[in-house]
Amino acid sequence: MRIISTKNYNEASARAADLIAAQILVKPDSVLGLATGSTPIGTYKELVKKYNNSELSFSEVSTINLDEYVGLGHDDEQSYYHFMMENLHNKTDIDKNNVYLPNGLAENIDDECIRYEELAEDLGIDIQLLGIGLNGHVGFNEPSDFIENYTYKVELTQSTIEANKRFFKKAEDVPKEAITMGIGTIMRAKKLVLLITGENKAEILDQALFGPITPQVPASLIRMHPDLTVIADNPALKLVSKII
Ligand code: F6R
Repeated sequence: MRIISTKNYNEASARAADLIAAQILVKPDSVLGLATGSTPIGTYKELVKKYNNSELSFSEVSTINLDEYVGLGHDDEQSYYHFMMENLHNKTDIDKNNVYLPNGLAENIDDECIRYEELAEDLGIDIQLLGIGLNGHVGFNEPSDFIENYTYKVELTQSTIEANKRFFKKAEDVPKEAITMGIGTIMRAKKLVLLITGENKAEILDQALFGPITPQVPASLIRMHPDLTVIADNPALKLVSKII
């Protein structure tokens, strides 16, 4: 595990974008594993900036996202599909046929999970960007006694519903289920980049990076990955300043 510490959110975003850009420069047909939420928005802005400055092309890139809410379609403003289009894909030259997210409206969600897992395996993720939930989740792998190896349907915890209600009109509108890559799916990516910013993540950063490795803190499991880079800003690192 490498830890890159940055002064603030903007610098963390720039560093994450540099890693993704380097991946694309070295391998123009890279497969990027992407995340949603507040944390990666700055990274996507930086990538769009690089595209606009002609430093980068996404024309051969494929992307596959970690997760999607069950019950939300592409046109739903709260869907992760919509998020990705708004924050990244509509602003680059990516071929939209190469953009993949789980289908939250699939008739049979279990079949959709199998299809998505096979897709992730066929594509082969070169670099996976991750955020972390306040409860330690990665993707939507919530704290649990078990490690899920493949894409699956998950019931969101109350803590995740609380944390994500800010994106919806009211808490009742937050879907109760999602399709998420399993920890195993994430671990099979060639490289992982975990982005952690903000003082409200300080406690969980400390547990995930320096506490016991346990499915009760799903992000702690990814420390077993041979190529993990953590990019964290100083507010998020405030409880672990001793190691920096
Ligand atoms: C979203 C995802 C989640 C988020 C996490 C943090 O695709 O995988 O694990 O990364 O909930 O969300 P923010 O960045 O909004 O704090």
